[in-house]
Amino acid sequence: MNTTQKPSLYDRLGGEMVIEAITKAFYDRVLKDPELKAFFAQTDMARQVNMQRGFLSAALGGPMVYSGKSLAHAHQGMGIKTQHFALFVQHFLDTIREYGVSEEEADEVIGRLNTYSNEITGKSY
Ligand code: HEM
Repeated sequence: MNTTQKPSLYDRLGGEMVIEAITKAFYDRVLKDPELKAFFAQTDMARQVNMQRGFLSAALGGPMVYSGKSLAHAHQGMGIKTQHFALFVQHFLDTIREYGVSEEEADEVIGRLNTYSNEITGKSY
């Protein structure tokens, strides 16, 4: 590896074990949010946490490759609006702050997640 290159965000957050703990803590928050929990009423959370973890690892530059269906397809017809997406991202931000990430790293994570906004809210396919 080029020594001037920064480790991936995934590694800086602490690798697989920490990403797993973060994902679980994050979903605990989402499922307690009165504006979000209804979206997950029919969802098998074990499956969801697993896929989400894999996806986030990939999104943060970790070793796992997300191979599920497209995010636009997975969220189509659910009625997810921009405000739901914003709340969801805010919960992730609050969670990673609890795990001691710096503001710079938090900004980087949020920047990456925000690139999925149109796909998740159905503004582009
Ligand atoms: C960056 C933001 C998001 C990412 C990366 C993401 C990622 C994913 C992934 C990977 C899946 C599994 C797809 C599959 O079945 O193959 C999924 C499913 C799902 N997501 Fe998201 N999601 C995001 C935002 C949201 C938001 C904002 C909501 C609702 C407020 C939401 C609700 C759901 C629900 C209800 C499912 C369906 C699970 C099922 O099969 O029952 N997601 N998401």
